Amino acid sequence: MRAYQLKGEGPKQLEAVELPEPVPGPGEVLVRMRAASLNYRDMLVADGHYGSGIPDTLIPLSDGAGEVVALGDGVSGLAIGDRVAGAFYPDWVSGPITAAARRRALGGSIDGVLAEYVVLPAHAAIPVPDHLSFEEAATLPCAALTAWNALAEVARLQPGETVVLQGSGGVSVMALQFARIMGARVIHTSGSAEKRVRLTALGADHVLDHAAEPDWDRAVLDLTDGTGADLVVEVGGPGTLEKSFRAVRIGGRIVSIGFVAGGSTIDPRAIISRCIRLTGITVGSCDMFRAMNRAIGQNGMRPVIGRIHTFDEAAEAYRRLRSGGHFGKVVITI
Ligand SMILES: NC(=O)c1ccc[n+]([C@@H]2O[C@H](COP(=O)([O-])OP(=O)(O)OC[C@H]3O[C@@H](n4cnc5c(N)ncnc54)[C@H](OP(=O)(O)O)[C@@H]3O)[C@@H](O)[C@H]2O)c1
Repeated sequence: MRAYQLKGEGPKQLEAVELPEPVPGPGEVLVRMRAASLNYRDMLVADGHYGSGIPDTLIPLSDGAGEVVALGDGVSGLAIGDRVAGAFYPDWVSGPITAAARRRALGGSIDGVLAEYVVLPAHAAIPVPDHLSFEEAATLPCAALTAWNALAEVARLQPGETVVLQGSGGVSVMALQFARIMGARVIHTSGSAEKRVRLTALGADHVLDHAAEPDWDRAVLDLTDGTGADLVVEVGGPGTLEKSFRAVRIGGRIVSIGFVAGGSTIDPRAIISRCIRLTGITVGSCDMFRAMNRAIGQNGMRPVIGRIHTFDEAAEAYRRLRSGGHFGKVVITI
């Protein structure tokens, strides 16, 4: 089968390779992958900046969708032809995250999905909503599930609450779409004029320029009668956290997800004085994935795709993500 591998210690080379077609064992399914999508994390893995535990030879990418083409012994609940996406953490089935559940992650500690065929445990091959194309379904496992976990599971966002979303990356745009479904008011930020127009078109109530208006936390206070937002979905990290502390209301919540804004230190005192509930999360469980898919199906929600590349253009897809110019997910057909 055709596949890609990242090779080398530290910064890695992306190589197109021919590998034997994998065979599903007991309790596993073989999936003919049809599309994959990229996340910020995939750049970190390729650059050797994702910490330890990454093999020197790795099939990259966590996010992909395809159809089941073979069943291992003892598999029930899935059939040949079912359209599925792989769970980011195949061993995190339900309940809270544990060290054991976190150990194996597609496209990180274990091989990912940028290959024609992938074997998955049957419980981690999650049926995708019927109305989505494979390209759309391939955007769900990491960015969408992280946004869903933040809003629905951890923050339990309520109708009428105000949420701040940062930048127009994959997680934040999915969070905007979920926040709309949940009936929340969205204050979004983006450093690009063109992307601000698109965020407004997707339903953001207010869109701020985090580049020209670095004190966007003040604008959030102005927009909330001086009170602050109920929730901030934090993808900026040390570069934005202290602003998020000031932008959230007393007793509000912040879900900490990423670190795209750089920076290295934070002063945590506002967490105490403003009684903020700050929760770090990592993607989500198989059960959360199924719940999210029910919501997506019920609401006919369609993930936003920025660009679809062919399989031969995989390196170009990485370059596109790295440029930061994308709005919506960068996808590769397989
Ligand atoms: N914890 C988890 O489970 C989890 C899961 C997924 C992702 N993440 C993390 O979440 C972050 C976002 O991931 P992603 O895949 O959504 O990234 P992405 O699609 O590559 O998006 C990056 C976006 O970040 C925005 N940005 C850059 N600097 C910013 C700043 N100073 N303030 C606000 N926004 C800024 C830019 O939006 P504009 O051009 O509109 O300004 C840019 O398009 C990454 O750090 C990633 O590692 C964590």
